[in-house]
Amino acid sequence: MYRIDIMTLFPETVGDALGESIIGRAQERDIVRVDTHQIRDYSTNKQKQVDDYPYGGGRGAVMTAQPLFDCRQHILDGCEPGERVRTIYCSPVGKVFTQADAIRLRDDYDRLIIACGHYEGVDERFIEECVDEEISLGDFVLTGGEIPALAIADAVLRLVPGVLPDEECFTDESHWSGLLEYPQYTRPETWQGRAVPEILLSGHHENIRKWRRKMSISRTKARRPDMYDRLDLSGKEDKKLLLEIENENACGQ
Ligand SMILES: C[S@@+](CC[C@H](N)C(=O)[O-])C[C@H]1O[C@@H](n2cnc3c(N)ncnc32)[C@H](O)[C@@H]1O
Repeated sequence: MYRIDIMTLFPETVGDALGESIIGRAQERDIVRVDTHQIRDYSTNKQKQVDDYPYGGGRGAVMTAQPLFDCRQHILDGCEPGERVRTIYCSPVGKVFTQADAIRLRDDYDRLIIACGHYEGVDERFIEECVDEEISLGDFVLTGGEIPALAIADAVLRLVPGVLPDEECFTDESHWSGLLEYPQYTRPETWQGRAVPEILLSGHHENIRKWRRKMSISRTKARRPDMYDRLDLSGKEDKKLLLEIENENACGQ
């Protein structure tokens, strides 16, 4: 069973979010397991304090290393021998998280320990001593690591076999093969005067597949030129689709 332990000052919020919907049901079926840990419970301070002033001055507070270290140690003490464990610290100075990271974390480890910072962050010595990698959710700053931890946990756990009905649920999605997903439609056929593209009603599976690929390519080109530049579109079908996209764009101008 794939396991994730989240060290946080808000265990209920984090636990509740991952106890719902698809990940919640996967937990009920013992396919995955998420445990949250209150960092404050591990503070040896009489007032259960988990932060202190920053050395060198400045605003705010920094989370002390001791409760974080002891909390992680408690989790490690409960790990099975041979379990491949990875400790992650959510941090805006980390490497920005991608789908490739979600796949790597699923494939290379059995258990993730994710530490959520708060205030101005955590004492650097905890990171040096305990953290295998620092992961950022993006180039912005949040008040705490809980949202990034939820995002990482969700992205990894939905890739665990059995969590989604079949592999196609995620291999056919944005970012799996370097493309953005094609547009999706559901009933009714016409809504607010907007009709579903006719081809999707044709029942012609091969033409639908080609249309979807074309839409994926054109969307990626328009919205994510950085991703588009990395695509290999040298296959016969893709070359033909590219020509169609160019012609359509030329007509639209
Ligand atoms: C207010 S932030 C600290 C920011 C830090 N002083 C800095 O300037 O880099 C508090 C906590 O939120 C989390 N956090 C904030 N932004 C994040 C991001 N983009 N990705 C991952 N974690 C983030 C981290 O755990 C961090 O310790």
